[in-house]
Amino acid sequence: MRIDIISVVPDLIKSPFEGSIIQRAISKGHVEVFFHNLRDYTSNNYKQVDDYQYGGGAGMVMMIEPIDKCISKLKSERNYDEVIYMTPDGETLNQAMANQMSLLKNIIILCGHYKGVDQRVRDLFITKEISIGDYVLSGGELGAAILSDAIIRLIPGVLGNETSALTDSFQDNLLSPPIYTRPSNYKGHGVPQVLLSGHNQNVEKWRDDKALERTRNLRPDLLDE
Ligand code: ADE
Repeated sequence: MRIDIISVVPDLIKSPFEGSIIQRAISKGHVEVFFHNLRDYTSNNYKQVDDYQYGGGAGMVMMIEPIDKCISKLKSERNYDEVIYMTPDGETLNQAMANQMSLLKNIIILCGHYKGVDQRVRDLFITKEISIGDYVLSGGELGAAILSDAIIRLIPGVLGNETSALTDSFQDNLLSPPIYTRPSNYKGHGVPQVLLSGHNQNVEKWRDDKALERTRNLRPDLLDE
């Protein structure tokens, strides 16, 4: 998979790609991530990427021309499955969307900044608009990093233990059951006996029951879906 991230502050998103599972996915060749600075696609001396809103109003708007140049250059080099715009008024990211997107080959992620992009960018170039939640960030960069992380760890082969993504919270619309590791007794606080029993069927049943119980208590909305 190849992810191209377009931003006015690309340095803001590089560090999440420089450690742990994501870095390993990149170095093992499961995914390539490229960052593009919109200022490199400006045609004026000031490298201006934003301007005042027509009709007045607070906040600057990202101009169409540098975005057009950047996206058109990328599209002239390869086909893209999706051109995604990170915005608080997009579709809220969930695990099902991450699952679907982990199967794509090439995607572009455009990060909004300031007040957002000129509507014509959305009309002409964007195929999918994604929000990471009902709150407003100062830009789409952190959202793009979160989206990329959620997708990359699902690419087949990225997680060492193939089953571990399948047992994540939200797969099957259930939260994960509680997990424990050594010691089996910490200052008098033990581990559920069934997990120490070595009886796989009982362990699986206990995990299924706990996942359901947790979901019922904490996120009953997931069970309605
Ligand atoms: N940009 C600003 N806020 C955002 C959000 N909640 N999700 C995605 N992109 C954003």
